[in-house]
Amino acid sequence: MDIIFHSAGANPELWQNALQQAMPEANMRIWHEGDTAPADYALVWKPPAAMLRGRTDLKAIFNLGAGVDAILQLGDALPAGVPVIRLDDAGMGVQMAEFVAHAVLRYFRRLDDYARQNQQQVWRFLTPYEKKDFSIGVLGLGVLGNRIIDALRGFDFPLNGWSRTQKSVTCVNCYAGHDQLDQFLKASKVLVVILPLTTETENLLDREKLALLPKGAYLINVARGAHLIENDLLDLIQEGHIAGATLDVFREEPLAPTHPFWQEPRITLTPHISALTMRDESARQIAAKIQALQAGQAIAGLVDQSRGY
Ligand code: NAP
Ligand code: GLV
Repeated sequence: MDIIFHSAGANPELWQNALQQAMPEANMRIWHEGDTAPADYALVWKPPAAMLRGRTDLKAIFNLGAGVDAILQLGDALPAGVPVIRLDDAGMGVQMAEFVAHAVLRYFRRLDDYARQNQQQVWRFLTPYEKKDFSIGVLGLGVLGNRIIDALRGFDFPLNGWSRTQKSVTCVNCYAGHDQLDQFLKASKVLVVILPLTTETENLLDREKLALLPKGAYLINVARGAHLIENDLLDLIQEGHIAGATLDVFREEPLAPTHPFWQEPRITLTPHISALTMRDESARQIAAKIQALQAGQAIAGLVDQSRGY
């Protein structure tokens, strides 16, 4: 079995080893410009169009991440009829749960306010926030959204969730579709974004939508930067409507040194690290899925290309 590999920024030898362990029978080669030799599968993260154009020999394309926006943006360069398969958790769920729970608790327990007091050697009690006023709204109730909710449930926060199709999740007020988005936002003091980037979710969080959040709301974006109109968030923070944000993703990455987010102390920035692809776990998941495909069995994580995720 021949596998071609491309992952922007990753060490291909380490992937080769992980894959060899998980699938000793596979012959993986690093794809180079001009390589049109036959292959059964492609393993990719942000692949160049030339790698996949016309490759109808592939049985499947495996995305080395959960979000498939970079692959689907290739449009016509994607070989028609070849399934695209995303990673299903593969070690990302627990990282997302850690990252979001940390950001929520930092805001809820006023730890940033105390850190500012520390810098000035101020010993002052701050009025705690009340949990009943602290509903957390999770935009996206998929694989990762559910892991985040499982973690937050343990802290007894009131929870809201929003998805495209109606869901029923224990202890969560579930909202669905655009008709219920405003209601969901009005009810959510902390907004966690864990949606895929699609034509429907791009630019979703503009001034009008963010202003529906209650005064003193907090935003945590761990999905994609293009969900958010960045200047609208900055304006609402500076006007005092939104208290702050933890942002892991941006419209342009790396974030430009001149970007105003760097100068806003109420925004905590991280460089797209909330959930990293775990090499060994992902290689094992992909190997199991290839085995299932070879045996003609159904697998999870098949992307609906018309839906965009
Ligand atoms: P997933 O399992 O496909 O779940 C997506 C969720 O979003 C589903 O609940 C889906 O609704 C909902 N959704 C999609 N379009 C919607 C719309 N138009 N309106 C309302 N809800 C909509 O995806 P996942 O594995 O949880 O991953 C989510 C995203 O996280 C990825 O696409 C990626 O962009 C991002 N991510 C970021 C990092 C990072 O390090 N920052 C790491 C991994 C992933 P239904 O349930 O009704 O289909
Ligand atoms: C990372 O951003 C992913 O989509 O897996």
